[in-house]
Amino acid sequence: MKAGEDRSYRIASIPGDGIGVEVTAVARKVLDATATLGGFSLEWTTLDWSCARYLETGSMMPDDGIQTLSGFDSIFLGAVGHPSVPDHVSLWGLLIPIRRAFQQYVNLRPARLFAGVTSPLRDRGPEDIDMVIVRENSEGEYSQIGGRHNVGTPAEFAVQESVFTRQGIERIVRFAFDLARTRGRSVVAATKSNGIVHTMPFWDEVAQSVADEYADVRYERAHIDALAARMVLAPHSIDVVVGSNLFGDILSDLAAAICGGLGFAPSGNVNPSSEFPSMFESVHGSAPDIAGRGIANPVAQVLSGAMMLRHLGEGASADRIDRAVETLFSDAKVRTPDRGGADGTDAVGDELVRLVGLADSAA
Ligand code: NAD
Ligand code: IPM
Ligand code: MN
Repeated sequence: MKAGEDRSYRIASIPGDGIGVEVTAVARKVLDATATLGGFSLEWTTLDWSCARYLETGSMMPDDGIQTLSGFDSIFLGAVGHPSVPDHVSLWGLLIPIRRAFQQYVNLRPARLFAGVTSPLRDRGPEDIDMVIVRENSEGEYSQIGGRHNVGTPAEFAVQESVFTRQGIERIVRFAFDLARTRGRSVVAATKSNGIVHTMPFWDEVAQSVADEYADVRYERAHIDALAARMVLAPHSIDVVVGSNLFGDILSDLAAAICGGLGFAPSGNVNPSSEFPSMFESVHGSAPDIAGRGIANPVAQVLSGAMMLRHLGEGASADRIDRAVETLFSDAKVRTPDRGGADGTDAVGDELVRLVGLADSAA
């Protein structure tokens, strides 16, 4: 929370593409209603940075985009990507540069099964699935080092380097351990040191050295392939998972899936030092297959907004949104098609605005 009476937060909203535009509009309504109830305000600035902008101007964001964003308290992003622009162009033109410029080296991706939501895993309830993926978000497999050679010839090849630094591994693993101390006191680090001979043994070694400082937290490492299976077969055995950029990315969609779908998986790209703004967005993308139909589930974006409020210091209001979402799911009155219903994105938003108000009076 800000010091003194100033509880007004400047938020840069980048709705982006596809369903990103639809879910951010709805989430904003829920966040504004929550802010009013909580006695603070969100000062929104909407930036039209997107694939549409790229097709018009040749760039996803202006040259001084990062500088513009640096003046905000937080960034609220919808999703980036449209079939008319190659994904590596759109994502490396907007989302990934923001994560890096602002050293948002933690990508926090909580995944819990809400009461009232049916997991695709048979016989699993909310008590079985409650985990957080702590994804390294600034280095690893996502790197610009490499290239394409002998283009267009039979000898064509591509090289893609991974970059793992001691500082990068140490700080993400430490973050995971600190988080585990506030939860189930257990960390599993995803590795693949049986097949990847340089970076992954280094990852294991640095992770172990951090783990040694946390005698009160259970630590194990698991190969990513076996861990993926375990997430399906024994999700109750998982509390905090720490993984490299790519492993964390893949595991977070899997974790979302066992909680019922991508429509309610939130995330935060966090700069723990608060030197730079952090950015909050759903785990899912722009979903071109359903975009424009008004049927996307906005809950992931709403929960990302709750994570943003918590990061800004408005924890009680974040809790209020979490409670509203819990009621939305347990009531089962308003449901988007991904949950077997026939309601639209807006209807879920309106219901959440109503429930946020009820959560207030019940509090
Ligand atoms: P996606 O997450 O957009 O969609 C995967 C599947 O999940 C689709 O069937 C989609 O309809 C469904 N889905 C996703 N969100 C939903 C919601 N809120 N409600 C209901 N159903 C939902 O992944 P994709 O298809 O691999 O990617 C589409 C585009 O988005 C690509 O351009 C990709 O690069 C981009 N992308 C962007 C981000 C981001 O901006 N953070 C994240 C992932 C993918
Ligand atoms: C995510 C997305 C992005 C990532 C893509 C779109 C670059 O999948 O945020 O999970 O891999 O980081
Ligand atoms: Mn992803």
